[in-house]
Amino acid sequence: MYYSDDLVEEVRSRNDIVDVISGYVRLQRKGSSYFGLCPFHSEKSPSFSVSRDKQMYYCFGCGAGGNVFTFLMEYEHFTFPEALKTLADRAGIALPQGEASGEEKRRQSLKSSVMELNKEAATYFYYQLRRENGAAAMRYLKNRGLSDETIHRFGLGYANIYSDDLYRYFKGKGVSDELLAQSGLMQADEKRGMRDKFWNRVIFPIMDANGRVIGFGGRVMGDGKPKYLNSPETVAFDKSRNLYGLQFARTSRKKNLLVCEGYMDVISMHQAGFTNAVASLGTALTSQHASLIRRYTDEVILTYDSDEAGVRAALRAIPILAEAGVKARVLNMRPYKDPDEFIKALGAEEFQKRIDDAQNSFLFETDILKNSYDMNDPTGKTAFYEALAKKLTGFEQELERETYLEAVASRYRVSPDSLRKMVNSIALGGMRARRGETPRREHKERAEQETGVQKSQKLLLTWLIEYPSLYGKVKEYLRPEDFSGEPYRTAAKLLFAQYEAGELSPAGIIDHFEDPQEQSQVAALFHQDLQVNSDAERSKALREALQRVILASLDEQRAHLDPTDMDGLQKLIARQKQARRLPQIEVR
Ligand code: CTP
Ligand code: MN
Repeated sequence: MYYSDDLVEEVRSRNDIVDVISGYVRLQRKGSSYFGLCPFHSEKSPSFSVSRDKQMYYCFGCGAGGNVFTFLMEYEHFTFPEALKTLADRAGIALPQGEASGEEKRRQSLKSSVMELNKEAATYFYYQLRRENGAAAMRYLKNRGLSDETIHRFGLGYANIYSDDLYRYFKGKGVSDELLAQSGLMQADEKRGMRDKFWNRVIFPIMDANGRVIGFGGRVMGDGKPKYLNSPETVAFDKSRNLYGLQFARTSRKKNLLVCEGYMDVISMHQAGFTNAVASLGTALTSQHASLIRRYTDEVILTYDSDEAGVRAALRAIPILAEAGVKARVLNMRPYKDPDEFIKALGAEEFQKRIDDAQNSFLFETDILKNSYDMNDPTGKTAFYEALAKKLTGFEQELERETYLEAVASRYRVSPDSLRKMVNSIALGGMRARRGETPRREHKERAEQETGVQKSQKLLLTWLIEYPSLYGKVKEYLRPEDFSGEPYRTAAKLLFAQYEAGELSPAGIIDHFEDPQEQSQVAALFHQDLQVNSDAERSKALREALQRVILASLDEQRAHLDPTDMDGLQKLIARQKQARRLPQIEVR
């Protein structure tokens, strides 16, 4: 569904950010802003600011920031349309109904029919478990240590021994074969027609983050095969984008998520109080899972089985998570096989200790790496250190690399100096090999460390919105194209355009960026905090910032100028002169 910019702006302007955020965070007025404890990181003294003038929030501690939409997307984990809907409702604005394409409409309507059917099936299974026929299934679950409350909370159920039980139930209600086939609850059998997919199994409904039933898992009660059957992928069920248990874990208010292998592990952990446990079901962790996780946390504790398959799964998951910006630690369950067994044997307190002791993923990887070398043989040992050094070059930041270097040097008993030499020579060799092509890593490093020009750009953007009269005074010297890099340049262009149109709305600029992380970055541009108080100091800082930004831009333009373009060159020189002789401009 596409919503026009005007509508988005209308919804935003009718929801004052201070009022909305006050519903979540206790705010106190301090000068022209409101301050409170940041809901996005833990802190003792308030660095979370909300500004009524800017209609933005920004945390000086963790850098979270944005407008009222960003806030709901980050705090409630809403998508943009969900945030828009919520705020439209709050302001009593009716959103237009979507004009989706015919194809998309059909898909959406099939999806809601399947979800509706899933819900009915889940209810049906739920009641079967509580009837006489379900007694054995109930006994099975109880024997596995599940309480009534847990069984209820996870909506567990039972599919009868008849393989057309659910089919007949739905036929009695007039549901079409076509829809039943699409739901994944039935399979078409050539000889006997439509059959239930699940029969004589305990049933685990699988829900999405909003608690809607999207599929099912069914377990045999005993040793039959296959142990688990899962719904096939349907319009409603995409295995690589959903995590079992997330509907509870997302509101657990713990700082990380526990990621395990399966149904029973999740349920046992929740029953023991670890309500932040989730599982990727019957599939390895995907990058879509990782981005889903990143919406809720930046740390995962991997609680995979302690067998070889579990170790392999962890080794695969670590880089996938890292790519999405999620740190991982690995929990040691030994001598038990999985969280379910561990908790049954040693209880929640011991499990908590294992969580606290969970190993840093880098050290987990290097320990495993070490196993493939013969450490009793000098050649094997050297080869291991080399592999270790190579892995260390993967850290882009020197301080981080150095910290890890010290840690592994003492862990594997090698002198940090020789390891460092090895790391440096590998890094150098890599650099020589890369010469000529784009040095990606260095590029990134530069991007991470804020340059003086970037700081100045931020200062200009911040002051331009804090002191609206400034625009008229600087526009003669400064152009939006002078801003370099994103999101600076786009933000500057939008801001200048707003001034030209006579309608300043900094928070509206944020809506031009999609991703909440980008939105935080943009909010940061408007919150450069330079601790200067006197008019004279501000004026001096403005002049420095203007010169720095303009001159850097002119240098850049000059480097790309066509050497025969005399006219262009003269203009550049004129602007350069002008920038060097900027008059005194007051910031107020
Ligand atoms: N799985 C599956 N199909 C199978 C076996 C496993 O889909 N035939 C998935 C299930 O999601 C299961 C997870 O992989 O929960 C982990 O498998 P396993 O360790 O074998 O099962 P447990 O979770 O230990 O189940 P239980 O305790 O019931 O034996
Ligand atoms: Mn298991």
